[in-house]
Amino acid sequence: MAITSHVFSTSEALADAVARKLSEHVSTKPDAVLGLATGGTPTIVYEALARDYRSTDFSRVTFFALDEYIGLPPDHPCSYHHYLWHRVLKPLGADPARVFIPDGMDDDRQRAAARYEASLEASGGVDLWLAGIGHNGHLAFNEPGSAFDSRTRDVDLNPVTRQANARFFDDPADVPTCAITAGLGTLKAHAREILLLVRGLDKAAILDRALNGPVTEEVPASMLQTMRVSGYFDQAAMPRD
Ligand code: F6R
Repeated sequence: MAITSHVFSTSEALADAVARKLSEHVSTKPDAVLGLATGGTPTIVYEALARDYRSTDFSRVTFFALDEYIGLPPDHPCSYHHYLWHRVLKPLGADPARVFIPDGMDDDRQRAAARYEASLEASGGVDLWLAGIGHNGHLAFNEPGSAFDSRTRDVDLNPVTRQANARFFDDPADVPTCAITAGLGTLKAHAREILLLVRGLDKAAILDRALNGPVTEEVPASMLQTMRVSGYFDQAAMPRD
């Protein structure tokens, strides 16, 4: 399946294009289902949404997050619950009953994963799902070697991922070692369209492998070549000749 790429010369233009697409979708479908990503890349989109698109009614939208750390309570400033509620869900007036973030605090991880999968199934599918990629090609927290048919589950985080995410924590040793993530098969089954956000020169090589290299479980994001994807990239992230 073809990936439609949009390339922007400024972060502001990229953020506005994605925020506008989400907002216009919700305007035409008030009970839309949207998927959210976390990390550094989408923050500019959430800022644009919270700043410029509050007049759109997001109260009937159902939201799914890709992943959550295991062992960080929802009110921990580095948890993805905290990130999403503060940056995007609260500013947009999301209904807590329509927000599904994997539960990284449930002692029974399989039960937490099954609950999340059941909610996705009941939602009827995610219209637009934001995603980023890791330097090692991970998609959500599906690290290299994850099966393309994997489902929501607990995973060990790759040292590369823990190192990249250490910037969000006071002490690198505090980065959790495990997470609960939507699987690659989960995304394939439930995401009708992925909005892939990639920014920065440091992502250019892995973006090239993901979009143009072999489709292989060693580069989980290469699965995107088999899905409907709109790419939102800055010029720095674009592969060079
Ligand atoms: C976040 C997620 C991750 C990030 C990826 C890139 O929910 O699932 O796959 O998208 O690690 O992170 P940043 O944007 O911080 O470079």
